[in-house]
Amino acid sequence: MATGITAREKHSPDALTAAIPGRDPYPLPDPSAVATLTYPGRLEADQVIAPIQSSFVRPDRPETPIDLEPNAFVLCDNLVGLNAIANSPNRARLIYLDPPYNTGFDFHSRDLKHAYKDDWHTPAYIEFMRRRLILARECLADDGSIYIHIGHQMLGHLKVIMDEIFGPQNCRNIISRRKCSSKNFTSKQYANIHDYLLFYSKSKSYYWDQPTQAPSKEWLDREYPKSDQRGQYKLVPVHAPGTRNGETGLPWRGKNPPPGKHWQYAPSKLDQLDRDGFIHWSKTGNPRRKVYLSADKALPYTDNWDAFRDAHHQSIKITGYPTEKNLNMLKMIVGASSEPGDLVIDPFCGSGSTLHAASDLGRRWIGLDESFSAAEASLHRLKHGLTAMGDYVERDAANDRQPQLEGLMFQESTGGANEAREFSFVVDQEILPAFREQVDELAAI
Ligand SMILES: C[S@@+](CC[C@H](N)C(=O)[O-])C[C@H]1O[C@@H](n2cnc3c(N)ncnc32)[C@H](O)[C@@H]1O
Repeated sequence: MATGITAREKHSPDALTAAIPGRDPYPLPDPSAVATLTYPGRLEADQVIAPIQSSFVRPDRPETPIDLEPNAFVLCDNLVGLNAIANSPNRARLIYLDPPYNTGFDFHSRDLKHAYKDDWHTPAYIEFMRRRLILARECLADDGSIYIHIGHQMLGHLKVIMDEIFGPQNCRNIISRRKCSSKNFTSKQYANIHDYLLFYSKSKSYYWDQPTQAPSKEWLDREYPKSDQRGQYKLVPVHAPGTRNGETGLPWRGKNPPPGKHWQYAPSKLDQLDRDGFIHWSKTGNPRRKVYLSADKALPYTDNWDAFRDAHHQSIKITGYPTEKNLNMLKMIVGASSEPGDLVIDPFCGSGSTLHAASDLGRRWIGLDESFSAAEASLHRLKHGLTAMGDYVERDAANDRQPQLEGLMFQESTGGANEAREFSFVVDQEILPAFREQVDELAAI
Protein backbone atom coordinates (compact mmCIF):
# COMPACT_ATOMS: atom_id res chain seq x y z
CA MET A 1 0.00 0.00 0.00
CA ALA A 2 1.30 3.45 -0.89
CA THR A 3 1.78 5.43 2.31
CA GLY A 4 3.79 8.41 1.11
CA ILE A 5 6.50 7.47 3.66
CA THR A 6 9.97 7.21 2.22
CA ALA A 7 12.17 4.27 3.17
CA ARG A 8 14.43 6.63 5.18
CA GLU A 9 11.53 8.01 7.24
CA LYS A 10 10.29 4.49 7.95
CA HIS A 11 13.57 3.66 9.62
CA SER A 12 14.31 7.01 11.27
CA PRO A 13 13.59 7.21 15.02
CA ASP A 14 10.81 9.81 14.60
CA ALA A 15 9.15 7.97 11.76
CA LEU A 16 5.85 7.46 13.56
CA THR A 17 5.14 11.14 14.32
CA ALA A 18 6.48 12.21 10.94
CA ALA A 19 4.33 9.60 9.22
CA ILE A 20 0.96 10.40 10.77
CA PRO A 21 0.79 14.21 10.94
CA GLY A 22 -2.95 14.35 11.61
CA ARG A 23 -2.78 12.13 14.69
CA ASP A 24 -2.57 15.10 17.13
CA PRO A 25 -5.71 17.12 16.33
CA TYR A 26 -4.35 20.37 17.86
CA PRO A 27 -1.51 22.31 16.23
CA LEU A 28 1.72 22.79 18.20
CA PRO A 29 3.03 26.36 18.78
CA ASP A 30 5.06 27.76 15.91
CA PRO A 31 8.80 28.45 16.41
CA SER A 32 8.29 32.15 17.23
CA ALA A 33 6.23 31.32 20.35
CA VAL A 34 7.74 32.10 23.80
CA ALA A 35 7.04 29.66 26.66
CA THR A 36 5.88 31.34 29.84
CA LEU A 37 3.94 30.85 33.05
CA THR A 38 0.43 32.22 33.36
CA TYR A 39 -1.35 33.50 36.45
CA PRO A 40 -3.42 36.59 37.27
CA GLY A 41 -1.66 39.92 37.87
CA ARG A 42 1.13 39.54 35.32
CA LEU A 43 2.37 43.01 34.40
CA GLU A 44 3.73 43.83 30.96
CA ALA A 45 7.50 44.39 30.99
CA ASP A 46 7.17 48.08 30.09
CA GLN A 47 4.85 48.62 33.08
CA VAL A 48 7.54 47.13 35.33
CA ILE A 49 10.30 49.28 33.86
CA ALA A 50 8.29 52.55 33.92
CA PRO A 51 9.80 54.88 36.57
CA ILE A 52 8.30 54.59 40.06
CA GLN A 53 8.15 57.80 42.08
CA SER A 54 10.94 57.36 44.66
CA SER A 55 13.68 59.23 46.46
CA PHE A 56 16.62 58.14 48.58
CA VAL A 57 18.35 59.91 51.44
CA ARG A 58 21.13 59.49 53.98
CA PRO A 59 19.71 59.20 57.49
CA ASP A 60 21.65 62.29 58.64
CA ARG A 61 20.25 64.43 55.78
CA PRO A 62 16.67 63.19 55.55
CA GLU A 63 15.44 66.18 53.54
CA THR A 64 18.08 65.98 50.78
CA PRO A 65 17.35 63.36 48.11
CA ILE A 66 20.42 61.79 46.49
CA ASP A 67 20.99 59.57 43.46
CA LEU A 68 21.69 55.88 44.09
CA GLU A 69 25.43 55.70 43.48
CA PRO A 70 27.91 52.82 43.88
CA ASN A 71 29.29 51.70 47.22
CA ALA A 72 26.00 51.97 49.04
CA PHE A 73 23.86 49.73 51.19
CA VAL A 74 20.27 50.77 50.54
CA LEU A 75 17.45 49.93 52.94
CA CYS A 76 14.46 49.63 50.62
CA ASP A 77 12.14 47.28 48.83
CA ASN A 78 14.37 46.18 45.97
CA LEU A 79 11.59 46.80 43.45
CA VAL A 80 11.98 50.52 44.21
CA GLY A 81 15.79 50.33 44.32
CA LEU A 82 16.13 48.35 41.07
CA ASN A 83 13.61 50.60 39.35
CA ALA A 84 15.67 53.67 40.36
CA ILE A 85 18.92 52.08 39.09
CA ALA A 86 17.24 50.91 35.87
CA ASN A 87 16.17 54.51 35.25
CA SER A 88 19.67 55.89 36.03
CA PRO A 89 22.84 55.76 33.90
CA ASN A 90 24.48 53.16 36.21
CA ARG A 91 24.89 49.72 34.64
CA ALA A 92 26.25 46.61 36.38
CA ARG A 93 28.66 44.02 34.93
CA LEU A 94 27.33 41.51 37.43
CA ILE A 95 24.14 40.99 39.41
CA TYR A 96 24.07 38.21 42.00
CA LEU A 97 20.77 37.58 43.72
CA ASP A 98 19.92 35.18 46.48
CA PRO A 99 16.22 35.75 47.00
CA PRO A 100 13.90 33.94 49.40
CA TYR A 101 13.61 30.31 48.22
CA ASN A 102 9.93 29.90 49.15
CA THR A 103 10.83 27.40 51.85
CA GLY A 104 7.64 28.01 53.80
CA PHE A 105 9.64 29.21 56.85
CA ASP A 106 10.41 32.47 58.59
CA PHE A 107 14.12 33.13 59.12
CA HIS A 108 15.66 34.47 62.32
CA SER A 109 19.22 35.54 63.05
CA ARG A 110 21.32 33.77 65.69
CA ASP A 111 20.23 36.34 68.26
CA LEU A 112 16.61 35.42 67.36
CA LYS A 113 15.77 38.68 65.60
CA HIS A 114 13.32 38.19 62.77
CA ALA A 115 15.23 38.39 59.46
CA TYR A 116 12.68 37.78 56.72
CA LYS A 117 9.57 35.87 55.79
CA ASP A 118 9.74 33.11 53.19
CA ASP A 119 6.25 31.71 52.86
CA TRP A 120 4.61 32.48 49.53
CA HIS A 121 1.80 31.43 47.25
CA THR A 122 3.49 30.25 44.10
CA PRO A 123 1.94 32.74 41.62
CA ALA A 124 2.72 35.67 43.93
CA TYR A 125 6.32 34.46 44.29
CA ILE A 126 6.75 34.06 40.54
CA GLU A 127 5.43 37.52 39.74
CA PHE A 128 7.44 39.08 42.62
CA MET A 129 10.60 37.58 41.12
CA ARG A 130 9.65 38.22 37.50
CA ARG A 131 9.23 41.96 38.11
CA ARG A 132 12.61 42.17 39.83
CA LEU A 133 14.33 40.11 37.12
CA ILE A 134 12.89 42.34 34.39
CA LEU A 135 14.36 45.32 36.25
CA ALA A 136 17.64 43.48 36.87
CA ARG A 137 18.03 42.95 33.13
CA GLU A 138 17.62 46.69 32.59
CA CYS A 139 20.31 47.36 35.22
CA LEU A 140 22.85 45.09 33.48
CA ALA A 141 25.47 46.19 30.96
CA ASP A 142 25.07 44.52 27.56
CA ASP A 143 28.07 42.28 28.34
CA GLY A 144 26.94 41.63 31.92
CA SER A 145 25.96 38.43 33.73
CA ILE A 146 23.39 37.50 36.34
CA TYR A 147 23.40 34.65 38.85
CA ILE A 148 20.27 33.62 40.80
CA HIS A 149 20.95 31.45 43.81
CA ILE A 150 17.88 29.33 44.56
CA GLY A 151 16.71 26.12 46.23
CA HIS A 152 14.94 23.21 44.58
CA GLN A 153 11.51 24.68 45.46
CA MET A 154 11.37 27.40 42.77
CA LEU A 155 14.24 26.35 40.49
CA GLY A 156 11.98 25.15 37.67
CA HIS A 157 9.73 28.20 37.78
CA LEU A 158 12.68 30.60 37.75
CA LYS A 159 14.32 28.79 34.82
CA VAL A 160 11.19 29.39 32.76
CA ILE A 161 11.03 33.04 33.85
CA MET A 162 14.73 33.59 33.13
CA ASP A 163 14.38 32.02 29.68
CA GLU A 164 11.48 34.36 29.01
CA ILE A 165 13.39 37.48 30.13
CA PHE A 166 16.98 36.70 29.07
CA GLY A 167 16.39 34.11 26.32
CA PRO A 168 17.15 30.38 26.65
CA GLN A 169 20.25 30.88 24.47
CA ASN A 170 21.77 33.03 27.21
CA CYS A 171 21.51 30.36 29.91
CA ARG A 172 25.17 29.55 30.58
CA ASN A 173 24.90 27.07 33.46
CA ILE A 174 22.65 25.56 36.07
CA ILE A 175 25.16 25.11 38.87
CA SER A 176 24.68 22.66 41.76
CA ARG A 177 26.24 23.93 44.95
CA ARG A 178 26.79 21.57 47.84
CA LYS A 179 25.49 23.61 50.78
CA CYS A 180 25.93 21.17 53.69
CA SER A 181 26.70 17.63 54.69
CA SER A 182 23.89 15.07 54.97
CA LYS A 183 24.47 14.03 58.57
CA ASN A 184 21.36 13.84 60.78
CA PHE A 185 19.10 13.76 57.75
CA THR A 186 16.00 11.79 58.77
CA SER A 187 13.22 12.66 56.26
CA LYS A 188 11.68 9.92 54.14
CA GLN A 189 13.35 11.16 50.95
CA TYR A 190 16.85 11.62 49.50
CA ALA A 191 19.03 13.93 51.56
CA ASN A 192 18.83 17.51 50.30
CA ILE A 193 22.40 18.81 50.24
CA HIS A 194 22.45 21.13 47.22
CA ASP A 195 21.06 24.41 46.10
CA TYR A 196 21.43 25.87 42.61
CA LEU A 197 22.63 28.90 40.68
CA LEU A 198 21.09 29.91 37.38
CA PHE A 199 23.84 31.70 35.47
CA TYR A 200 22.71 33.81 32.49
CA SER A 201 24.40 36.46 30.40
CA LYS A 202 22.55 39.38 28.91
CA SER A 203 23.95 38.66 25.44
CA LYS A 204 26.24 36.16 23.76
CA SER A 205 29.18 38.52 24.22
CA TYR A 206 29.78 38.67 27.97
CA TYR A 207 32.77 39.13 30.27
CA TRP A 208 34.29 35.88 31.57
CA ASP A 209 37.53 35.18 33.39
CA GLN A 210 37.76 31.39 33.83
CA PRO A 211 38.12 30.60 37.53
CA THR A 212 40.39 27.70 38.41
CA GLN A 213 41.20 25.71 41.51
CA ALA A 214 44.26 23.81 42.64
CA PRO A 215 43.56 20.07 42.31
CA SER A 216 43.12 18.01 45.47
CA LYS A 217 45.82 15.50 46.46
CA GLU A 218 43.31 12.70 45.69
CA TRP A 219 42.85 13.97 42.15
CA LEU A 220 46.59 14.39 41.61
CA ASP A 221 47.36 10.90 42.84
CA ARG A 222 44.64 9.46 40.61
CA GLU A 223 45.59 11.44 37.48
CA TYR A 224 49.39 11.43 37.94
CA PRO A 225 49.91 8.02 39.59
CA LYS A 226 53.60 7.51 38.75
CA SER A 227 56.74 9.29 39.84
CA ASP A 228 60.47 9.29 39.17
CA GLN A 229 63.39 11.62 39.87
CA ARG A 230 61.73 14.31 37.69
CA GLY A 231 58.47 14.26 39.68
CA GLN A 232 54.88 12.98 39.46
CA TYR A 233 53.72 11.93 35.99
CA LYS A 234 51.01 10.18 33.95
CA LEU A 235 51.30 8.11 30.78
CA VAL A 236 49.47 9.15 27.61
CA PRO A 237 49.34 7.52 24.16
CA VAL A 238 51.82 8.60 21.50
CA HIS A 239 49.21 8.04 18.78
CA ALA A 240 46.14 10.01 17.76
CA PRO A 241 42.94 9.16 15.85
CA GLY A 242 42.94 9.10 12.04
CA THR A 243 45.31 7.63 9.48
CA ARG A 244 48.08 9.66 7.75
CA ASN A 245 50.05 9.09 4.57
CA GLY A 246 53.13 11.04 5.73
CA GLU A 247 55.89 9.98 8.11
CA THR A 248 53.53 9.89 11.14
CA GLY A 249 51.66 7.06 9.39
CA LEU A 250 54.84 4.96 8.89
CA PRO A 251 56.30 2.40 11.32
CA TRP A 252 58.45 3.76 14.16
CA ARG A 253 60.97 1.45 15.81
CA GLY A 254 59.45 -1.31 13.69
CA LYS A 255 55.91 -0.70 15.00
CA ASN A 256 52.95 0.56 13.00
CA PRO A 257 50.54 2.94 14.75
CA PRO A 258 47.40 1.05 15.94
CA PRO A 259 44.68 0.58 13.24
CA GLY A 260 42.91 3.88 12.39
CA LYS A 261 45.61 5.93 14.21
CA HIS A 262 48.81 7.80 13.43
CA TRP A 263 51.86 8.74 15.56
CA GLN A 264 51.39 12.10 17.30
CA TYR A 265 54.94 13.15 16.36
CA ALA A 266 57.36 12.53 13.51
CA PRO A 267 59.78 9.62 14.16
CA SER A 268 62.70 12.06 14.74
CA LYS A 269 60.76 13.82 17.52
CA LEU A 270 59.74 10.48 19.07
CA ASP A 271 63.41 9.43 19.02
CA GLN A 272 64.34 12.65 20.79
CA LEU A 273 61.62 12.16 23.44
CA ASP A 274 62.88 8.63 24.02
CA ARG A 275 66.52 9.77 24.34
CA ASP A 276 65.40 12.42 26.88
CA GLY A 277 63.59 9.82 28.97
CA PHE A 278 60.04 10.97 28.17
CA ILE A 279 58.92 7.64 26.64
CA HIS A 280 57.84 4.71 28.81
CA TRP A 281 57.99 1.24 27.24
CA SER A 282 55.50 -1.32 28.59
CA LYS A 283 56.55 -4.93 29.24
CA THR A 284 54.90 -5.83 25.92
CA GLY A 285 56.90 -3.16 24.10
CA ASN A 286 54.25 -0.46 23.68
CA PRO A 287 55.48 3.16 23.90
CA ARG A 288 53.67 5.84 25.94
CA ARG A 289 54.65 9.40 26.72
CA LYS A 290 55.33 10.66 30.24
CA VAL A 291 53.49 13.90 31.07
CA TYR A 292 54.83 15.51 34.25
CA LEU A 293 52.71 17.46 36.70
CA SER A 294 53.45 21.19 36.59
CA ALA A 295 53.64 23.12 39.85
CA ASP A 296 50.90 25.52 38.72
CA LYS A 297 48.41 22.84 37.65
CA ALA A 298 44.93 24.36 37.95
CA LEU A 299 41.53 22.94 37.04
CA PRO A 300 38.64 24.99 35.71
CA TYR A 301 35.57 24.93 37.92
CA THR A 302 32.70 22.75 36.69
CA ASP A 303 28.99 23.33 37.29
CA ASN A 304 29.21 21.16 40.42
CA TRP A 305 30.51 23.24 43.34
CA ASP A 306 31.60 21.26 46.37
CA ALA A 307 34.00 23.72 47.98
CA PHE A 308 31.62 26.47 49.05
CA ARG A 309 29.47 25.13 51.87
CA ASP A 310 27.64 27.54 54.08
CA ALA A 311 29.47 28.29 57.28
CA HIS A 312 26.23 28.00 59.22
CA HIS A 313 25.98 24.37 58.37
CA GLN A 314 29.33 23.85 60.03
CA SER A 315 28.28 25.81 63.16
CA ILE A 316 30.86 28.48 62.45
CA LYS A 317 29.85 32.03 63.30
CA ILE A 318 30.25 34.64 60.61
CA THR A 319 27.67 37.44 60.86
CA GLY A 320 24.84 35.48 62.43
CA TYR A 321 22.51 36.19 59.51
CA PRO A 322 20.52 33.01 58.83
CA THR A 323 21.11 32.58 55.10
CA GLU A 324 24.57 34.09 54.77
CA LYS A 325 26.43 32.72 51.75
CA ASN A 326 30.02 31.57 51.48
CA LEU A 327 32.33 34.53 50.92
CA ASN A 328 34.80 32.57 48.78
CA MET A 329 31.99 31.46 46.49
CA LEU A 330 31.05 35.09 45.98
CA LYS A 331 34.67 36.04 45.36
CA MET A 332 34.84 33.41 42.66
CA ILE A 333 31.64 34.65 41.00
CA VAL A 334 32.74 38.29 41.22
CA GLY A 335 36.18 37.39 39.82
CA ALA A 336 34.77 35.28 36.97
CA SER A 337 32.09 37.72 35.82
CA SER A 338 33.42 41.24 36.48
CA GLU A 339 36.61 43.28 36.33
CA PRO A 340 38.05 45.70 38.89
CA GLY A 341 36.12 48.98 38.80
CA ASP A 342 32.93 47.31 37.52
CA LEU A 343 29.62 47.75 39.31
CA VAL A 344 28.23 44.65 41.09
CA ILE A 345 24.63 44.72 42.36
CA ASP A 346 23.05 42.40 44.93
CA PRO A 347 19.31 43.23 45.23
CA PHE A 348 18.73 40.70 48.07
CA CYS A 349 22.03 41.34 49.82
CA GLY A 350 21.17 40.03 53.32
CA SER A 351 24.33 40.09 55.42
CA GLY A 352 26.35 41.69 52.61
CA SER A 353 28.43 38.71 51.43
CA THR A 354 28.44 39.95 47.83
CA LEU A 355 29.25 43.52 48.88
CA HIS A 356 32.16 42.22 50.96
CA ALA A 357 33.49 40.12 48.05
CA ALA A 358 33.05 42.97 45.55
CA SER A 359 34.76 45.46 47.84
CA ASP A 360 37.72 43.12 48.53
CA LEU A 361 38.18 42.61 44.79
CA GLY A 362 38.10 46.30 43.89
CA ARG A 363 34.65 46.37 42.32
CA ARG A 364 32.05 49.05 43.02
CA TRP A 365 28.85 47.73 44.51
CA ILE A 366 25.24 48.45 45.47
CA GLY A 367 23.40 46.25 47.96
CA LEU A 368 19.65 46.41 48.54
CA ASP A 369 17.66 44.81 51.34
CA GLU A 370 14.45 45.64 53.14
CA SER A 371 15.15 43.77 56.40
CA PHE A 372 16.43 45.59 59.50
CA SER A 373 18.34 42.46 60.54
CA ALA A 374 19.97 42.29 57.11
CA ALA A 375 20.84 45.98 57.31
CA GLU A 376 22.37 45.44 60.75
CA ALA A 377 24.44 42.46 59.54
CA SER A 378 25.60 44.22 56.36
CA LEU A 379 26.43 47.53 58.02
CA HIS A 380 28.27 45.82 60.86
CA ARG A 381 30.26 43.69 58.46
CA LEU A 382 31.15 46.61 56.19
CA LYS A 383 32.16 48.85 59.08
CA HIS A 384 33.77 46.42 61.50
CA GLY A 385 34.70 43.31 59.48
CA LEU A 386 34.41 39.65 60.44
CA THR A 387 36.64 38.49 63.25
CA ALA A 388 35.46 34.88 63.23
CA MET A 389 36.32 34.35 59.56
CA GLY A 390 39.88 33.26 60.40
CA ASP A 391 38.59 30.13 62.15
CA TYR A 392 36.58 29.29 59.08
CA VAL A 393 39.55 29.47 56.74
CA GLU A 394 41.70 27.33 59.05
CA ARG A 395 39.08 24.67 59.67
CA ASP A 396 38.13 24.31 56.07
CA ALA A 397 41.74 24.05 54.99
CA ALA A 398 42.22 21.26 57.53
CA ASN A 399 39.39 19.40 55.81
CA ASP A 400 41.09 19.96 52.45
CA ARG A 401 38.05 21.79 51.17
CA GLN A 402 39.24 25.38 51.04
CA PRO A 403 39.38 26.30 47.36
CA GLN A 404 42.64 27.73 46.08
CA LEU A 405 41.23 30.60 44.06
CA GLU A 406 43.93 32.00 41.87
CA GLY A 407 44.54 35.58 42.86
CA LEU A 408 41.31 35.68 44.81
CA MET A 409 42.28 34.04 48.06
CA PHE A 410 40.72 35.60 51.08
CA GLN A 411 43.42 37.37 53.09
CA GLU A 412 42.61 36.74 56.70
CA SER A 413 44.24 39.73 58.32
CA THR A 414 46.45 41.32 55.72
CA GLY A 415 43.81 42.29 53.13
CA GLY A 416 40.82 44.54 53.19
CA ALA A 417 38.53 41.93 54.72
CA ASN A 418 38.64 43.35 58.20
CA GLU A 419 39.06 46.98 57.32
CA ALA A 420 36.31 49.55 57.55
CA ARG A 421 35.07 50.41 54.08
CA GLU A 422 34.09 53.72 52.55
CA PHE A 423 30.42 53.44 51.74
CA SER A 424 27.06 55.15 52.17
CA PHE A 425 24.06 54.00 54.13
CA VAL A 426 21.03 55.12 52.17
CA VAL A 427 17.31 54.67 52.87
CA ASP A 428 14.10 54.97 50.92
CA GLN A 429 12.91 58.42 52.04
CA GLU A 430 9.32 57.22 52.26
CA ILE A 431 10.03 54.75 55.08
CA LEU A 432 11.79 57.28 57.33
CA PRO A 433 8.82 58.77 59.21
CA ALA A 434 7.58 55.32 60.28
CA PHE A 435 11.02 53.79 61.02
CA ARG A 436 13.15 56.73 62.21
CA GLU A 437 14.19 54.99 65.43
CA GLN A 438 15.34 51.77 63.70
CA VAL A 439 17.20 53.73 61.02
CA ASP A 440 19.00 55.83 63.66
CA GLU A 441 20.10 52.65 65.43
CA LEU A 442 21.41 51.26 62.15
CA ALA A 443 23.23 54.49 61.32
CA ALA A 444 24.97 54.31 64.71
CA ILE A 445 26.45 50.82 64.12
C1 LIG B 1 18.49 34.48 51.22
S1 LIG B 1 18.62 36.04 51.92
C2 LIG B 1 20.09 36.69 51.22
C3 LIG B 1 21.33 36.29 51.97
C4 LIG B 1 22.61 36.90 51.43
N1 LIG B 1 22.96 36.33 50.14
C5 LIG B 1 23.77 36.72 52.39
O1 LIG B 1 24.84 36.22 51.99
O2 LIG B 1 23.61 37.08 53.54
C6 LIG B 1 17.34 36.90 51.11
C7 LIG B 1 17.25 38.34 51.47
O3 LIG B 1 16.27 38.97 50.66
C8 LIG B 1 15.70 40.02 51.39
N2 LIG B 1 14.47 40.45 50.73
C9 LIG B 1 13.33 39.73 50.55
N3 LIG B 1 12.41 40.46 49.89
C10 LIG B 1 12.99 41.66 49.63
C11 LIG B 1 12.55 42.84 48.96
N4 LIG B 1 11.34 42.93 48.41
N5 LIG B 1 13.41 43.88 48.89
C12 LIG B 1 14.65 43.82 49.45
N6 LIG B 1 15.11 42.73 50.08
C13 LIG B 1 14.31 41.65 50.17
C14 LIG B 1 15.52 39.44 52.77
O4 LIG B 1 15.40 40.45 53.73
C15 LIG B 1 16.79 38.61 52.91
O5 LIG B 1 17.81 39.35 53.56
